[in-house]
Amino acid sequence: MYKQIHFISLCLLIISQSLFAGEGMWLPIFLKSLNEKEMKAMGMKISADDIYNINKGSLKDAIVQFGGGCTSEIISNEGLLLTNHHCGFGYVQSLTTVEQNYIRDGFWARSKSEEQVCSGLTATLIVRMEDVSAIILNGVNPKMTELQRRNKVDENIEKLKLVLPKLDDQEVLIRSFYNGNQYFAFVTETFKDIRLVGTPPESIGKFGADTDNWVWPRHTGDFSLFRIYADKSNRPAAYSKDNIPYKPKHFLPISLSGIKEGDFTMVFGFPGRTTEYLIYEANKQQIEVLNPVRISLRDKTLKILDKYMRADEKTKIQYASKYAGIANSWKKWIGENLGMKVSKGLDKKLKADLEFQKRVNQNPKFEAYRKLIPDMEFLYKRLEPFAKAREYYAETFVRNVDVYDYYQLVKSLINTYEGRGEAKFNLSKQDILKNIDAYFKDFNTSIDQEIFASLLEQFITEMNPAFVFNSLKEALKTNHSDYKAFAKSLYTSSKLTNQDSLYRIMSMDYVQWIAAIKADPLYQFYEDMNFYQNNDINKLCFDLEEQINALRRTHMTALMEVLPEKRYYPDANSTLRVTYGKVEGFKPRDGVHYLSKTTLDGVMEKYIPGDYEFDVPKKLQSLYNNKDYGIYGEDGKMPLAFIGSNHTTGGNSGSPAIDAHGNLIGLNFDRVWEGTMSDINYDPSICRNIMVDARYILFIIDKFAGAKWLIDEMKLVYPKGKKK
Ligand code: ARG
Ligand code: ASP
Repeated sequence: MYKQIHFISLCLLIISQSLFAGEGMWLPIFLKSLNEKEMKAMGMKISADDIYNINKGSLKDAIVQFGGGCTSEIISNEGLLLTNHHCGFGYVQSLTTVEQNYIRDGFWARSKSEEQVCSGLTATLIVRMEDVSAIILNGVNPKMTELQRRNKVDENIEKLKLVLPKLDDQEVLIRSFYNGNQYFAFVTETFKDIRLVGTPPESIGKFGADTDNWVWPRHTGDFSLFRIYADKSNRPAAYSKDNIPYKPKHFLPISLSGIKEGDFTMVFGFPGRTTEYLIYEANKQQIEVLNPVRISLRDKTLKILDKYMRADEKTKIQYASKYAGIANSWKKWIGENLGMKVSKGLDKKLKADLEFQKRVNQNPKFEAYRKLIPDMEFLYKRLEPFAKAREYYAETFVRNVDVYDYYQLVKSLINTYEGRGEAKFNLSKQDILKNIDAYFKDFNTSIDQEIFASLLEQFITEMNPAFVFNSLKEALKTNHSDYKAFAKSLYTSSKLTNQDSLYRIMSMDYVQWIAAIKADPLYQFYEDMNFYQNNDINKLCFDLEEQINALRRTHMTALMEVLPEKRYYPDANSTLRVTYGKVEGFKPRDGVHYLSKTTLDGVMEKYIPGDYEFDVPKKLQSLYNNKDYGIYGEDGKMPLAFIGSNHTTGGNSGSPAIDAHGNLIGLNFDRVWEGTMSDINYDPSICRNIMVDARYILFIIDKFAGAKWLIDEMKLVYPKGKKK
């Protein structure tokens, strides 16, 4: 308890000592004590209380976690939800067919009755959050093993979940912060009836596609509209035609005033994961060992997918979402490595470690921290071969191929049978039978097989043979190291990768079913792989990482004590955070200065007729030619995107960019290529987030799509002298 209070006051002390804009993802409940002063100095006109308050409507009541991975925000009194095109893309894709192509043509409901149900989509609001560190760490002491500590923490979490005040339909989430030094509880509300309202064609919503992804200057109208539906009492409910639009406690007004270089901006959302406090050795491993493995295997997958997608429209639709997902991380890792090189990130990390060590050595007070870095270094070095093998396995056999999903499908049924009995098993099997068409809708056996063979070849060529499991070695021997032949035999002899035979298997009773599954070569392959991986790679990784994590927890506290002039915000962990900065251009390299704003002119500069990334819809061209921008234009131009020094990461997509008055001015969707290493080493000179200008969103809805009924629902804030 004493240590805990000590830890928190240490954070407060350190943070209030030294502040500068840009870096940091802050907890909304601490804004008042930690950030408000600085935010106001930077131009913010509202108070911390207007941002987070549990007793009255505040900005936080408009911020919604979208489908678990992205952020979205409520922009009308009727639950209208704004998020990124790329966040809603998976749902738009599942509503898309060759005949009714919402990806290519966009979709706009003309009234609420035309809004489309998105099965499986959820929207989560944060009711309140509180610091529960003292309760969760009660009974934890430094003499405990990691396992004992974890058990105690889990026990305390379970106990607290039972007593924390909440309504029946609300959930409690408890998350660790500062590497396990602090814990916060979140009471949340999850809505399950979310409908698609409108989405632009991908030639707007994904303009520039993968070529422009992660790159500035940018011209992507990356937005879509959804709506939250609730039951008659405004509470979360499963889909029903009787549900009504959700009435929020707060929604964001939209500013038409525009932005200029230096303006205050704030981004409010759910950043996913950052690791800003790793030691040099850990960053070096990521940059020099792990990223190259991931990048090179994905190079292969993407080339194969691109070849087939360019050749055939159906394949393009089937693989659009998957391609975007694989390419997105691939390109980010490339940028991350580049940024670390350009900004000499590893050198900086090394210097920081050395400075820490020097101060520790000089001060007897820090005696206990002397071996921290050497011990971590030792463990990271031991981890390296296993971590590398783990990446090879994941990229080759799991993340880039779909067959793994079919294995997972039957594996989870086996688990259901073993854990929950035959009745439950039969129910789940029925569910699969009902959805079998959906499982195969976006699956092309021969493409998947080609990827499998190609990745396998690289895996065998590059992997240390000691890490290749025996049955794979034998199978390759049988096939005379012909990877294609092996892949073909696996895919064609398995009953899991063919719709009809999977249907037949799923219609069997348990005894027949399990016999068929156990005899299936694909099932056997992945069983062997998992068995080997779990015992010979993952278990070792887990043990080493557990030891590393214990040291990282101490290192976090040590950093704050030893280098108190730095500021320490908790790493992102998919919880609600505020980040703030300014509209700000940057210098990516010598002699080049990027401006902070783009306009529709740039779309026409990039326009390549018929190209799948840079085509421009006719209607947009004519609006451009006629300068028909209505109230959304500025000085004869149509503003499109802008960048700022707000510290964001994956999960912040769809987050609102908010101005000094609490109005929406943009929609966050990306970061600049040079600065994607902000997840491990934020550098204020080159790290920028990218946002679509809110006026471009309104222009597309109103002038391009003709969906004025949606604009009428929003609250627009006019600049002085530009009244309606
Ligand atoms: N890079 C952005 C983010 O990390 C946008 C990705 C979606 N766009 C794409 N072309 N894949 O999620
Ligand atoms: N595009 C990312 C997202 O989807 C945001 C980022 O990584 O900057 O969350």
